[in-house]
Amino acid sequence: MRAIGIERFGDTPELKKLPVPEPGSGQVQVAIEAAAISPLDMAIASGALAAIGEYRFPLTLGMDGAGTVIAIGDGVTEFRVGDRVFGQFWSRPLRCGTFAEVCVVQAAPAFGALTAVPDELPSHVAAALPTSGMTALGAIDHARVPEHGTLLVIGATGGVGTFVVQAAAARGLRVIATASAQLAEQVRELGASDIVVRGAEPLPQALRGLEPEGFDAILDLVGDRSLTSGVAGAVRDGGALLSTAFGLDERLLADERIRTANYRLDRKPERLAELTRLVTAGAIRPVIGAELPLEEAPRALLDGVEVAGLRGKTVLRVH
Ligand SMILES: NC(=O)c1ccc[n+]([C@@H]2O[C@H](COP(=O)([O-])OP(=O)(O)OC[C@H]3O[C@@H](n4cnc5c(N)ncnc54)[C@H](OP(=O)(O)O)[C@@H]3O)[C@@H](O)[C@H]2O)c1
Repeated sequence: MRAIGIERFGDTPELKKLPVPEPGSGQVQVAIEAAAISPLDMAIASGALAAIGEYRFPLTLGMDGAGTVIAIGDGVTEFRVGDRVFGQFWSRPLRCGTFAEVCVVQAAPAFGALTAVPDELPSHVAAALPTSGMTALGAIDHARVPEHGTLLVIGATGGVGTFVVQAAAARGLRVIATASAQLAEQVRELGASDIVVRGAEPLPQALRGLEPEGFDAILDLVGDRSLTSGVAGAVRDGGALLSTAFGLDERLLADERIRTANYRLDRKPERLAELTRLVTAGAIRPVIGAELPLEEAPRALLDGVEVAGLRGKTVLRVH
């Protein structure tokens, strides 16, 4: 089968011909129809996540995907052959990712989460949801913004940000987002009520006067520690400053005036189910900035993808 993989950490991901993986006990074998790229993929390929998880080589990359169950191993009760499934396919040990024609995963993945795809959701849309969508919903929950409160999103146009803006607005929060001038209108259409144009002036100055009482929460999706240090003062007492991009340094993490955390996704099927509810109800429209054939994954992983509008998710068509 065709798969995008590496032989060891630090390798350049490339298209390979690999044997089709067979499901063992407790595993399902999925014919992947679509997969989506997330920053996690290159973090795994580089070895940066070697300490969390267990890996087998050759390692097929790809965490997010959607497809159809084509075989199940002994003891699997969660899924049946023919089920359409999607999720974050992070097994332990990890050998088979979603950037392949066939993937084998634990029915209850060690770190990931897998669930059924509603009939009305096409596979390429389902594949775009898991990592970014679950991170967005989890981070919003963690921020504990009060009803009608205010959330500032730094880095709103990417995979996580486009979900955060929509999900927070759907919950009735007032969302303020950073974006380039060209994308400001599109981020507004996602649900942001105000845009702070990126680069026009330093962010702390740009925020002055926007929320005199302070933001209930700021969510950083960029990971620039000078940026997060500069905006911490704009959070109201007792409010939250979170980063999914490990953008908070020790000093900020020790700040007792506000709640701070480098947020890590806690994956669970219930969050995937919540995401599908929001998407099928039309409250969230997954933003797919680019769709590519599987073969183009190495280039997209290494060089990124040029997009005309919102970056959102990059989806790979596999079948
Ligand atoms: N902790 C976890 O469990 C977890 C889970 C998922 C993701 N993450 C992390 O969360 C971060 C966001 O993920 P993602 O999938 O949304 O990444 P992404 O798709 O690459 O989006 C990054 C966003 O940041 C913006 N950006 C980049 N540099 C900026 C700057 N200097 N100022 C303002 N905005 C800037 C980008 O805008 P342009 O496109 O216009 O440059 C884009 O909107 C990544 O670091 C990722 O590794 C962590």
